[in-house]
This record gives sequence, C-alpha cells and structure tokens, in this order.
Amino acid sequence: MQMENLTREIIERTGRFNASVLTEDVPFETIRHFGMQTGRETDKFAHFAPFSRSKNGLIYLTEHTNAMFSCEVKEKINLGSHMMFIGEVTESKVLGKQPPCTYAHYHKAIKPKL
Ligand SMILES: Cc1cc2nc3c(=O)[nH]c(=O)nc-3n(C[C@H](O)[C@H](O)[C@H](O)COP(=O)(O)O)c2cc1C
Repeated sequence: MQMENLTREIIERTGRFNASVLTEDVPFETIRHFGMQTGRETDKFAHFAPFSRSKNGLIYLTEHTNAMFSCEVKEKINLGSHMMFIGEVTESKVLGKQPPCTYAHYHKAIKPKL
C-alpha cells in the first residue's frame, strides 16, 4: 500500500481491512472511482450502492467481484515507498464465477487507449 494513501493510514489505525477480487467485466468507471481519487477528498461509498458489510463491520463490493476476504493485520513491513500488510483471513465469501481481473487484463481490455 502506497504510503500517501488514506487506505494505508486507516489500515494502520484499525488493524483490519477487506479485499475485493474484481472480475474481468469490471467497468473502467469502478477502477477510476476507487483507484484514481483519494478518500481524503471524497467519500467513495457515499453514492456507490452495490456494497455490503462483513462481520468485521467493513464494506465490501458486491458487483463485478467474485470473492471477498476480511483480514486482521498480523504484521506490517515498511518498504519505504509502500507499507506491506500481512493479514490473517477472518472471513471470506465466493460471490461469483466470472474470472478475476488481472493487472494484465486491466491494461489490455479496460484501461482507455489514448
Ligand atoms: C489499476 C490500479 C492499481 C492500483 N494498485 C495500487 C496498489 O497496488 N497499491 C496502492 O497503494 N495503490 C494502488 N493504486 C492507486 C490507489 O488506488 C490510489 O492512489 C487511490 O487514489 C488511493 O486512495 P486512498 O487515498 O483513498 O487510499 C492503484 C490504482 C489503479 C488505477
């Protein structure tokens, strides 16, 4: 997790996080919404309906995802530019059968071509 990200700060403060596995059909708008703006300037879930809550009280996405994991931080490793969190899975769910969206698929099929 990049040091300047709000997500890094919140994970360090709370010691927990959820991870959603995006699927290949994820629209660029979802990537842009969560990945290209910071929660320091906007509440990313304020106008984003398709989510639910896990047992740890956190939010996870319910559309364009095939799985979710709730994790408790067991270790954090400072890599300089990034903080690496090692989490123990406390809950997980299978949410669909679509193939997961890899970074390669994002670059090939989702990211707009300039
Ligand atoms: C395709 C894509 C992949 C990304 N991967 C990561 C990542 O692995 N780690 C990370 O810290 N930020 C990653 N980012 C950047 C963050 O999503 C971005 O900095 C975000 O605005 C941080 O929001 P926050 O400040 O609310 O945490 C990625 C962005 C995109 C578009």
